Amino acid sequence: MCGIVGYVGSEQAAPVLLEGLSRLEYRGYDSAGVAVYSQREGTLSVHKAKGRLQVLSDLLQGGAAVEGTVGIGHTRWATHGAPSDVNSHPQVSQGGKIAVVHNGIIENYAELKAFLVDKGVTFVSETDTEVVAQLIEYFYDGDLLAAVGRVLHRIKGAYALGILCADTPDQLIAVRKDSPLILGYGKGCSFMASDVTAILKHTREVGYMEDGEIAVLTREGIQCYNHLMQPIQKEISHVDWEIDAAEKGGYEHFMFKEIMEQPEALRRCVFPRIREGEVWFEDFGLSEEYIRSIQKIYIVACGSSYHVGMVGKYNLERLTRIPVEVALASEFRYMDPIVNDRTLVVVISQSGETLDTMAALREARKLGGRILSIVNVVGSSIARESDEVLYTWAGPEIAVATTKAYSTQMALIDLLGLYFARILGTVEEQEYRSALDEMLLLPAKMEEVLADKDDIQYFASQYFNHDSVFFIGRNLDYALGLEGSLKLKEISYIHSEAYASGELKHGTISLIEDGTLVVALGTYGRLFEKAMSNVVEVKSRGADVLALTTKSHEKEMRETANAVITIPDTHDLLLPSLGVVPLQLFAYYVALMRGCDIDKPRNLAKSVTVE
Ligand code: F6R
Repeated sequence: MCGIVGYVGSEQAAPVLLEGLSRLEYRGYDSAGVAVYSQREGTLSVHKAKGRLQVLSDLLQGGAAVEGTVGIGHTRWATHGAPSDVNSHPQVSQGGKIAVVHNGIIENYAELKAFLVDKGVTFVSETDTEVVAQLIEYFYDGDLLAAVGRVLHRIKGAYALGILCADTPDQLIAVRKDSPLILGYGKGCSFMASDVTAILKHTREVGYMEDGEIAVLTREGIQCYNHLMQPIQKEISHVDWEIDAAEKGGYEHFMFKEIMEQPEALRRCVFPRIREGEVWFEDFGLSEEYIRSIQKIYIVACGSSYHVGMVGKYNLERLTRIPVEVALASEFRYMDPIVNDRTLVVVISQSGETLDTMAALREARKLGGRILSIVNVVGSSIARESDEVLYTWAGPEIAVATTKAYSTQMALIDLLGLYFARILGTVEEQEYRSALDEMLLLPAKMEEVLADKDDIQYFASQYFNHDSVFFIGRNLDYALGLEGSLKLKEISYIHSEAYASGELKHGTISLIEDGTLVVALGTYGRLFEKAMSNVVEVKSRGADVLALTTKSHEKEMRETANAVITIPDTHDLLLPSLGVVPLQLFAYYVALMRGCDIDKPRNLAKSVTVE
């Protein structure tokens, strides 16, 4: 949802900004822009272009065409105003003094715009961001920080802002509220960015801005202030992962790389958490007493993370016998949820910045719930606002469609269920042991699935021309179908739906006709016979059935389905962890064959920081 980068130093700023933006393009790719203070001209030099960052980069010869050592840059996911040159950021004030890049939404922009228009200010764009630039200039009387402070009292909504003023060309101002922004501490230079990857080439020392904080960046360092404009000291963290982790490393797409990285990600996520045959969480603050007192678990998330929650509901209830409710974070806030101090709220988010999820977290806390989050991005807002955090340690995920984060989130939900069940005494010793043994085998079994990728590619070549697909399954297979279907539709643009198989006959089966592609999921052994009945049901209406099952059920499935993909047998709880891999690959190859932009699907962005 828009990427921001800012640099003040002694190098030429434009190439630094463009390079940083290239790492943030996953956040939005409708247009891009930079504003650099030109020493020679004594003015702001602003360049913007609709389309991918490459268009801007070509225009600016990789940045060589722009002179100046202080600047801000932006890559946009359009909210207010269509993607166009004029709506791109930076947005500049009427007098040309103030340039602003923004991630988020200014909710009261219309009212503020009317106020400024009344004062004679002329607007050129349709963006909410231009209001911020104009308002700063309106209040500016030589003290930029004071003007920013006055603006912050008036704007409502979510924002990370980068501000450059032609009168103070040796500094940048960064502001954060409900949208991510980090600070980078270099030698003789300072940075701001929406995420660490944008500045990692230059520094590993970062500070995470909190809501309401303001930072003034200069070559000499960074001074932070709280919302009362009192100076504060920021803790500096060292980032220890390598930039290669955020590069394609020879693969054609990040999504494919990230699919292939899953076994390794699982090893990182799971192995340290199983010690001497027991689940073990480092620095875990949920006491046994608290776990025994939990009356209800709420899982709150969006998109694929929500699908992990669906698997979590089945597995946690089965293991712990605690009632589990799963809610879409965007709905949670508005449904008057029943949460109290006996409710554990499990918040799942790869980015740790999803605005709906964050808002749900805050609502749950207000109601007295205890918050445990499962997050990938270390130091992200959700992680910082939670009582407990379990990090997935999947490494940076760049492709918009999540894969390795999903798999590691699921592993953590399963480990959590086993951990609770052990304390509550709701799991048989034998089941506990076999689940943990299988958990340790999961990465190797996943490698077996990945080794069969050519078969999946073949199936994709058979089916990529379909324009509508149904994923059907029961229980865990239904939850798996939700994810398989989302993966396919988001990157291949094929219309696809997931149904609980038993529901088909209540309406949807009327859509099945000769040649309709049905992906039938029958991995869950306990309900295999039921899954088979549904395969027969859709086949007899003419469906072309591509089935997914385990090796032990392969023979039976082959007798009915048109084509069968198999995964190794494993503990029931873990079937979706293996089952998702062929579905990810299927979506990937179908999208590839349809010529889609796999890593950057249309209309989407990786980190959804607007409501
Ligand atoms: C789909 C996908 C999205 C995210 C969703 C939540 O492939 O990636 O559906 O799962 O936007 O994002 P996080 O997990 O960052 O909160």
